[in-house]
Amino acid sequence: MQNQKHLFDLSENITYLNGAYMSPQLQSVTKIGIESVTRKGKPNEILPEDFFNQKEVLKQRFATLIEASDYQNTAIIPSVSYGIANAANNITITKGDEILLVDEQFPSNVYIWQEVAKKNDAIIKVIKPPVELPNRGKLWNENILNAITKKTAVVAMPQVHWADGTLFNLKAIREKTKEVQAMLVIDGTQSVGAFPFSITEIEPDALICGGYKWLLGPYSIGMAYYSDAFNNGTPIEHNWMNRYNSEDFSGLTTYEDRYQEKAARYSVGESSNFVLTPMMIRAIEQLITWQPENIQKYCSTISQNAIKKLRELDCFIEDDNYRAHHLFGIYLPEHLNLEKLKTKLKDEQIFVSFRGNAMRVSCNVYNTSIDFEKLIAQFS
Ligand SMILES: Cc1ncc(COP(=O)(O)O)c(C=O)c1O
Repeated sequence: MQNQKHLFDLSENITYLNGAYMSPQLQSVTKIGIESVTRKGKPNEILPEDFFNQKEVLKQRFATLIEASDYQNTAIIPSVSYGIANAANNITITKGDEILLVDEQFPSNVYIWQEVAKKNDAIIKVIKPPVELPNRGKLWNENILNAITKKTAVVAMPQVHWADGTLFNLKAIREKTKEVQAMLVIDGTQSVGAFPFSITEIEPDALICGGYKWLLGPYSIGMAYYSDAFNNGTPIEHNWMNRYNSEDFSGLTTYEDRYQEKAARYSVGESSNFVLTPMMIRAIEQLITWQPENIQKYCSTISQNAIKKLRELDCFIEDDNYRAHHLFGIYLPEHLNLEKLKTKLKDEQIFVSFRGNAMRVSCNVYNTSIDFEKLIAQFS
């Protein structure tokens, strides 16, 4: 795969290694967004069927990206917290059950579980990584597997940790959850789009993804997958469009108890969003053309020299088998002056994120190895 920067709206003057914060926008996505905003000026041209066509296309594209066999298991969501809440509210949790989370998850995959635990007298168990850095990812994965027991009702975790890119072995975790009949809910926001995810292979109960990071979409739209286990659940809101026969605009006050197929009930109200939905479709179509596997390979190629040099400088970067290539943490040595480094990065307009004593670097197909050279030049 070649560099694709020419397809993005990204300033020449900056070095952007912060896609985990927010992705730059594809020019094709900007274009369709502007066209879509303009379209509202001609409401007479927006037909009843337009409320349904595009959102079905979006669900189909997302299903293709995540290798879900039936697109009707997908839903359009406005945020990760919304998508996780739909799953959490429809999982049977009883007194004494354990809800497993990994340490320092993003709050959208934490608060709702705290709420559900409080309501049902269940227990939140947070699985921590080892204190020592060597073998951290491997041991953290082992800790998770060991924590899954007959008491576990649900494991709610990411595929790739948002703070430092630790990669979790979802296949092994899924096997263990199946043994004890626990549900598996995945926040794929920091991986899906840039890292392969196959519903067919992992078989999670739910997969929730924010749209504005690795899916390259706009803000305030995301995508979710809910397995058939959720087909009879209750959504967190009751939108008319998600009810059976809602395409018949003249019959909307013949109120319906039945829902549209499968996960359609979990889509947010106004999910036909005439601006965000076409933008999200375009972004996912681009990702389907590129393929996440190739994006990983590209990110690995452009970062490998820099990672070697950083390790020589006593920085800790997780073993390659236990981290993503599009997002990784650089644990800085104690002797390094963090404030000085931050100032240098700012002066050079190099954009990364910081978490404690670790720097989070996240790249994509708009980056090159030169971006990484610029980054490590600031360490001297
Ligand atoms: C792992 C992860 N999940 C979710 C989100 C965003 O959540 P929400 O859409 O609820 O704002 C982020 C944003 O940084 C994230 O990193």
